[in-house]
Amino acid sequence: MAFKFKKQIFGFMDLLRFKKLVPNRRAAFDAASSAPLPKTYKVNETAKILHPGNQKARLAEITLVTADTKTYTFELSKKMFFRAGQYVELTADVDGSTVNRPYAISSSPLTSLREGKLSVTVKKAGFFSNWLFDNAKVGDEMIIGDPSGFFHYEGIKDAEVVVGIAGGSGITPFYSMAQAIAEGSEDFRLILLYGAKTEKDIAFKKELDALVSDNFKVVYVLSDEKNKKYENGFITKELIAKYAPEDFTVMACGPQAMYAFLDKELAAMGIGGRRVKKEANCVGVRDVKKAVYDLTVHIRDDVYTVKADNRETVLVAMERAGLRVPSKCRAGGCGFCHSKLVSGKFSIAGADKRRLADLKFGYIHPCCSYPDSDMEIIVPAGLE
Ligand code: FES
Repeated sequence: MAFKFKKQIFGFMDLLRFKKLVPNRRAAFDAASSAPLPKTYKVNETAKILHPGNQKARLAEITLVTADTKTYTFELSKKMFFRAGQYVELTADVDGSTVNRPYAISSSPLTSLREGKLSVTVKKAGFFSNWLFDNAKVGDEMIIGDPSGFFHYEGIKDAEVVVGIAGGSGITPFYSMAQAIAEGSEDFRLILLYGAKTEKDIAFKKELDALVSDNFKVVYVLSDEKNKKYENGFITKELIAKYAPEDFTVMACGPQAMYAFLDKELAAMGIGGRRVKKEANCVGVRDVKKAVYDLTVHIRDDVYTVKADNRETVLVAMERAGLRVPSKCRAGGCGFCHSKLVSGKFSIAGADKRRLADLKFGYIHPCCSYPDSDMEIIVPAGLE
């Protein structure tokens, strides 16, 4: 179809506008502020606080909490925002090897934002924790990763009251939550049932007692000591019912044995599904007859073949060989370590938490996979 030119009746108006274009622009320039442009923007600064990335941190203080638990307080090089209940990954050079582990944050979110300090509380158990307990000293420099994990209050999903169930060093995230409630950075009611073996094993007792308010209550439960000042025995369904209101969300953090017991108690109360959140524990060794396999690892253009003990995870085999590979939760939950399986058989510790896409495209989580044969995997590059 032939193009038809449409005559503009008021075309001369455009001409007028065009004539005014340059003077208008000059006037706008003249009226504009002569202040220099800001060097930083608020939104960028906020993003940096939300996602500071790996950062160097100086160990500023070590406090003995119980006979086998210490709090390590770090001075951060970059401010960090986290939700009370989250963890950070701590990385240090241990006897010439780079080792990292996730630890729950025990300080409050505002302490990090205002004072640039962050604390983790660690029980002496396991390779890195033992090293920290015996060797770390004030002035040491370590690497702290981004705050991670979903063990925190979610107003959209959770009830207004949380019944927290802590076992042993599982108190750490709840201590952070109790401080956050007191300082106003978290807004929910926490009823904490805290199980310890004896009175001496209760961590942060003085601090927790000082935080008690309308929104925070703590009940100590001793399993190995009869003491009239406290509840005695285990955290049973009767005990939960005694302190919990009608509607509540359960958040639990403690050893695997506590979870197994708790699952039965909660099932008997008809509580499960979304009403229960459990913080995952790092995957440990499995109890099987020892066998050693060859593990071939591709990282970028490099190929390594290392030995893998079938009692330990594929992640541990790579770390033992000195390979720097990514990891965060070490419990199958974050997906940070996911690696493409080229060949080989493996077993997963506990439930398979891989995303559907990982399953479909043949990815495994080395942090919770034990080798059952020689294996070959492609691993994303680790810490730079
Ligand atoms: S480190 Fe989180 S899934 Fe492996």
